[in-house]
Amino acid sequence: MVSTLSTLSKEITHKFYLNGEWKESQSGQTLDIESPYLHEVIGKVQAITKEEVDQAVNFAHEAQKGWAETSLQERAKYLYKWADELVNMQNEIAEIIMKEVGKSLKDARNEVVRTADFIRYTVEEALHMNGESMKGDSFPGGSKSKVAIVERVPLGVILAIPPFNYPVNLAAAKLAPALISGNAVIFKPATQGAISGIKMIEALHKAGLPKGLINIVTGRGSVIGDYLVEHKGINMISFTGGTNTGAHLAKKVGMIPLVLELGGKDPGIVCEDADLHEAAKHIISGAFSYSGQRCTAIKRVLVHEKVANELVEILKGEVNKLSVGSPEEGCTVVPLIDNKSADFIQVLIADALGKGATVVTGNKREDNLIYPTLLDDVNDTMRVAWEEPFGPVLPIIRVSSDREAIDITNESEFGLQASIFTKDINKAFSIANKIEVGSVQINGRTERGPDHFPFIGVKGSGMGAQGIRKSIESMTREKVTVLNLI
Ligand code: G3H
Repeated sequence: MVSTLSTLSKEITHKFYLNGEWKESQSGQTLDIESPYLHEVIGKVQAITKEEVDQAVNFAHEAQKGWAETSLQERAKYLYKWADELVNMQNEIAEIIMKEVGKSLKDARNEVVRTADFIRYTVEEALHMNGESMKGDSFPGGSKSKVAIVERVPLGVILAIPPFNYPVNLAAAKLAPALISGNAVIFKPATQGAISGIKMIEALHKAGLPKGLINIVTGRGSVIGDYLVEHKGINMISFTGGTNTGAHLAKKVGMIPLVLELGGKDPGIVCEDADLHEAAKHIISGAFSYSGQRCTAIKRVLVHEKVANELVEILKGEVNKLSVGSPEEGCTVVPLIDNKSADFIQVLIADALGKGATVVTGNKREDNLIYPTLLDDVNDTMRVAWEEPFGPVLPIIRVSSDREAIDITNESEFGLQASIFTKDINKAFSIANKIEVGSVQINGRTERGPDHFPFIGVKGSGMGAQGIRKSIESMTREKVTVLNLI
């Protein structure tokens, strides 16, 4: 595919950000960033050294002390300015997101604007978090002369590791709560997504954020990955990405707080009484937007056998209407982030077909572009029933009861979200209460937003909670000061 846009000059070498300055690494080495649809190198980022990681952590600690003393109103001003700068730079950043991770320009622009909204809401939330006071005599035998003041204090230096699929939004979703609550941040962008992350930090630099509070570390995972997560100067880690990496990270990290948002196998449960057209609309958008490269994508349909044929027909019609091709043409189904991801999906499809699944539509590939694929007659012996494809393939599993749908949902190693489609609200709540996931969507697609809702993964889908208030809480701790009145 050939690009028609040109803001991003070819093969710019991007510097990393250390103590308020843009620098080249002493390593003299860079990493190539190849566009998933242009199939050419669109830029290079620094492959920094362990010594530079140490410097970043030291600068962050130094800066954090003063930042924690800075008034909330003062911190808020920098973050509001950051949001404004992002809006000003939305076209430039959106084009980079598109080229770097292959997301349509419209979605990329939405991501930038959503991020500015996220930052502003984070500030507002922090401004209204007042802590509490407790009286001693509310406990038996306690004294009226004791009063506890419970407030939240920053943890110190936060390591923020976002994924490739929202290189700006999911990065800022860690940076903004960390900064507003008085922390400094070591920002390790996904390598594919690093240029977008760097651009986002340019906006923060323009906003005049004091030096040292944000330091970007880009580089080879084999050199700085484990070194970073085991670094004694890191006080908390917020990671979003694959379950295997998350599990590896959890083993490496010592006694510091950790928030993990990992993979999913979100089901769309379609009950016998569902409005099938409405359900299909949500399932298609849930499963195929950005080629299914979302942790919250609908990754399997559990449909009651009595309505399965009708639903499959409707889904087939909708899948065939999806636009497939270049993100520059605004297509919904775009080339996957790399060839390895496309290979994995093909393995899942082949495994299912070998065990008796049928192709309703799709199963076509051009390089790393997988056409939207609907598989019917999927059963529990097939890998695609359980594994996360992170791509545009949707398996249909026919069930004979709501109970069976609940059991299949709960057998999963994942527990991110689930959608339930039914006209019976009592049934919806009854199913929702029995399924082991962080969030249940009734008559809607699985999704993280609106961003102030708590966002929780259980089992293999994560640990801890995000969502604006939850993220602020996770990056602060409670501190109690007791006043003993004389
Ligand atoms: O990929 C994981 C994201 O947190 C999903 O966010 O539901 O807004 O697409 P989304």
